[in-house]
Amino acid sequence: MTIPAGFPPEPKFMPGKLFSFPGTAALMGKYYDRFMADLEEKVLLKRRKQLLSELQGKILEIGTGTGINLGLFPHQSTIIGLEPNPYMLAHAKERPAYLEAPERFHLYNLKAEEADSILKNEAPFDALVFTLVLCTVSRPEDLVRSLLPHLKAGAPIIILEHIVDPHPLMRFVQRLFNPLWKCCSEGCNLTRSTDKMLENLGLRVEQKSYFRAGLTFYQAVLYKD
Ligand SMILES: C[S@@+](CC[C@H](N)C(=O)[O-])C[C@H]1O[C@@H](n2cnc3c(N)ncnc32)[C@H](O)[C@@H]1O
Repeated sequence: MTIPAGFPPEPKFMPGKLFSFPGTAALMGKYYDRFMADLEEKVLLKRRKQLLSELQGKILEIGTGTGINLGLFPHQSTIIGLEPNPYMLAHAKERPAYLEAPERFHLYNLKAEEADSILKNEAPFDALVFTLVLCTVSRPEDLVRSLLPHLKAGAPIIILEHIVDPHPLMRFVQRLFNPLWKCCSEGCNLTRSTDKMLENLGLRVEQKSYFRAGLTFYQAVLYKD
């Protein structure tokens, strides 16, 4: 995939707040899919399908990235996607699912925390999707809480996230390595207990599972009752 001519230079984009090596937003856009291809094919893609294929109605996706989920949402659904990295978003808009039915996808080049003016004009959503994004947003708990009022009662919240390793030695190594990793990966954290954070929000938890694929992952469907 190619970045369209005239695409903006490195955007002012630092989800990690502290520091991001210059050029990482563009590099992420260019190499992310290649970096993830093996893991997706062997492990993640089938889990994404399980999680997304039954969703209905109007879906809010946080951190659409290069759009890997776009072709997995059911055909009758409509998607509002929020993605701050324009290089990632450019690839999402080259996905076959988007090109075949662009009217189903409303993709905004925005951080979720900055999307209030869009969300407040939308009817409540039927589902909310986070895949590999709560590791990166600056204040994940605040973000999830702020989005709950935009969901219908009974709406599923889809989660597929890597979390801190349960083993103390691995956890120590991840904490040591995290500052460097974060600078190279647009603010991604290896050290978050996203599972505990979410389960403390008082949501109903279903289909919860953990698996290892290099990192430890947490997959779940939560419900706002
Ligand atoms: C690791 S990628 C995952 C993309 C996609 N969700 C997936 O499953 O492949 C994380 C994405 O979240 C985006 N992101 C980071 N901070 C964000 C925020 N505050 N709001 C929305 N998206 C964000 C990044 O730009 C990046 O594209």
